[in-house]
Amino acid sequence: MGRLDGRVIIVTGGAKGIGKVYSEGLANEGATVAIADIVDGAGLAEEICVAHGAGRAVAMAFDVSSETDVKRVVGDVMKRYGRIDVLVNNAAMFSTLQPTEPWDIDVELWDRVMAVNVRGPFLMVKHVAPAMIKAGYGKIINIASGTAYRGIPHMAHYVTSKGAMIGFTRALARDLGPRGIRVNTLAPGLIMSDSILANTEHIEEMRDAVIAARSIKRDGLPEDLIGALVFLSGAESDFVAGQTLAVCGGTTTT
Ligand SMILES: NC(=O)c1ccc[n+]([C@@H]2O[C@H](COP(=O)([O-])OP(=O)(O)OC[C@H]3O[C@@H](n4cnc5c(N)ncnc54)[C@H](O)[C@@H]3O)[C@@H](O)[C@H]2O)c1
Repeated sequence: MGRLDGRVIIVTGGAKGIGKVYSEGLANEGATVAIADIVDGAGLAEEICVAHGAGRAVAMAFDVSSETDVKRVVGDVMKRYGRIDVLVNNAAMFSTLQPTEPWDIDVELWDRVMAVNVRGPFLMVKHVAPAMIKAGYGKIINIASGTAYRGIPHMAHYVTSKGAMIGFTRALARDLGPRGIRVNTLAPGLIMSDSILANTEHIEEMRDAVIAARSIKRDGLPEDLIGALVFLSGAESDFVAGQTLAVCGGTTTT
């Protein structure tokens, strides 16, 4: 028996990087997973269905910053499964961003990061919350980052957007908690996702500094996040709201 048996979970950005491991980890615990991503998640959905049974995963292509797309995805999940128990707001512009001095960030790029990383999670909540309110139960997990606590150089757009997730969670916990919806933040430290390993030029220099700042002196892997994600998605965290759980080997203490 899985800890998430019968739960229907939307994972935004669930097709690649850490999100892919989230989709697999949640399915391993019995959840049915809707993989909503700007990249194609059909192959991953197929693998999950082969491993766990037909209908246990579906891939939906969308741009999280578009309200039309978000409405379509949420509507499709409701039509297909009739419920949404958990929303994981994981999609973000991250691994594709180049380190840039704040004064060199183009206004268009700043706005795009905010549209994907902040408006996106808001749009998801706007369209998922009514179904959860009707059911009287739900879980929302906003993915922030340890960088919002510590700051890191040359990523002001990204760090600002992840700081917003912490405030967003605290506000939502107040509005949605009385309606049975538990909202929390998961804040990973530097995680060696396949996206990071593929795109970041200075990863080796960064890696040593990050590990030196940790209590637990090793790389963080996507699998390290699954225990916290499953906890926040399941019944075991039903009395937990408005919190940030930092999974970073003890760099950040919240
Ligand atoms: N890897 C790390 O070190 C780390 C640390 C802290 C937080 N995080 C957070 O974890 C999450 C996943 O990070 P990752 O390392 O897998 O990097 P990533 O860049 O691969 O993850 C982003 C995911 O969001 C999707 N996405 C991007 N723009 C989208 C859009 N407009 N609409 C829909 N989907 C979109 C991507 O396709 C991808 O699946 C992000 O929220 C990131 O901020 C990562």
